[in-house]
Amino acid sequence: GGLPATHPLVDGRTASAPLVRAMRGDRPSTPPVWFMRQAGRSLPEYRAVRAGVAMLDSCLRPELASEITLQPIRRHGVDGAVLFSDIVVPLKLAGIDVDIVPGTGPVVAAPVRTAADVASLPDLDPAALAPVEQAAALTVEQLGGVPLIGFAGAPFTLASYLVEGGPSREHLRTKALMHADPETWHALASWVADITLAFLRGQILAGASAVQLFDSWAGGLSLADYTEFVAPHSARVLAGVADLGVPRVHFGVGTSELLVAMRDTGADVIGVDHRLPLDEANRRLGGTTPLQGNIDPALLFAGQDALERHTRRVLEAGRAAPGHVVNLGHGVPPDTDPDVLTRLVEFVHQQ
Ligand code: CP3
Repeated sequence: GGLPATHPLVDGRTASAPLVRAMRGDRPSTPPVWFMRQAGRSLPEYRAVRAGVAMLDSCLRPELASEITLQPIRRHGVDGAVLFSDIVVPLKLAGIDVDIVPGTGPVVAAPVRTAADVASLPDLDPAALAPVEQAAALTVEQLGGVPLIGFAGAPFTLASYLVEGGPSREHLRTKALMHADPETWHALASWVADITLAFLRGQILAGASAVQLFDSWAGGLSLADYTEFVAPHSARVLAGVADLGVPRVHFGVGTSELLVAMRDTGADVIGVDHRLPLDEANRRLGGTTPLQGNIDPALLFAGQDALERHTRRVLEAGRAAPGHVVNLGHGVPPDTDPDVLTRLVEFVHQQ
C-alpha cells in the first residue's frame, strides 16, 4: 500500500490545495469549487478537439483525454480537474461490447441477466488500463498545484447499465434480479466492484489526489435494498483504496434518504444533489462528514442575480458542515453558457 514518493499529495504539490483541505474537513480561506461534467459539451474548445472522434475513443487517447481534462482549468479556474473518461471505460477495457450513443448514453450489446451471463464475464487485464493511467499522469504533470480528481462508477450504477442494456429510468430488471436471484446479483456486483477498484487505483497511483465514486442511480433504491444489495460492494471498492489515503467522495442523485448509508460504506466526503439543503444533509450525517455540492444546475439558466442569490444560500448552508467543496447538484448541462460557469467560479472565490 501507500502512495509513491512522487505522488502530488506526497511531494507537496497538492496536500494543502484548498480542494484537498476541504475534503479533509478543513476550511481554507476561499471555498474550493469544481463542477461535475465541467469538461465536455458546454465548451466550444471541447467540441473542436472531439470532432470526428467517438466518445470512448477520445477517453482512450491519453493526449486528447488530458487536453480535454485541462480545458476547464484554463477557462474557469476551478480548484480541481476531473479526469476526462467515463464510468463505462473499465467495462470496455475488460472487453464488454459497450458504446456511448450520443443523446442516449451507454448501450451494452449483450445485456447481462443470468447466472451464465455473469459467469462468462471477462477478467480485466490490469495492463489494459494503461491509456487511462497515461492520461492521468500526463494531466498531473501539467496541473502543478491543482489536484486531479479520479472517479469510477459504483457497482449498482454500472451493473444497472449491464443488466438493462442501456439507460433506464426505473431499473426494473436490475431490481428484479436482486430479489429474484440474489446470488447472481451479488456475483455481478462483485465483478463490477473488482474492475471499478482497479480503475480507481490506477488513477490514484498515476497521480489523482482525490476520487469520486458515482452511484448516480442509487436514488431509485429503498434504504433496505441499498443496504442489503449495494452497500457491501461499494464498501469493498472504497476500502480497496483506503491504504492510499486520498479523500474519497461518494455521490448519487436523489439519495437524500441514503446519505448515511452511503457515508457508512467508507466515504470521506458525501456529494449531495440539489434536492436537500446542505445544513439538513449535515444534520442527517451527524455533523462529521465534509460535503460537496449542491448548486441546482437549473440556476445556471436563471440569470446572474438568481444564480448568485442561490449560491450564497448554498455557501451559507455549507458552513454547517466540517468542510465544503462547492459543486453543482449534478453535472453541467450540455447547453450551459460557459461564461456563466466562469463568473460563478469568480463569485465563489470572492466569498
Ligand atoms: O465530469 C467530467 O467532466 C468528467 C468526465 C465524465 C464523463 N462521464 C464524460 C462524459 C464523468 C465523471 C462521467 C461519469 C458518468 N458517465 C456518469 C456518472 C455521473 C452522472 O452523470 O451522474 C454516468 C451515469 C455516465 C454514463 C454516461 N456517459 C451518460 C449517461 C452519458 C450521456 C449521454 C448523452 O449523450 O446524453 C455519457 C456520455 C458522456 N460522458 C459525455 C461526456 C463528456 C458526453 C458525450 C459527448 O460529448 O458526446
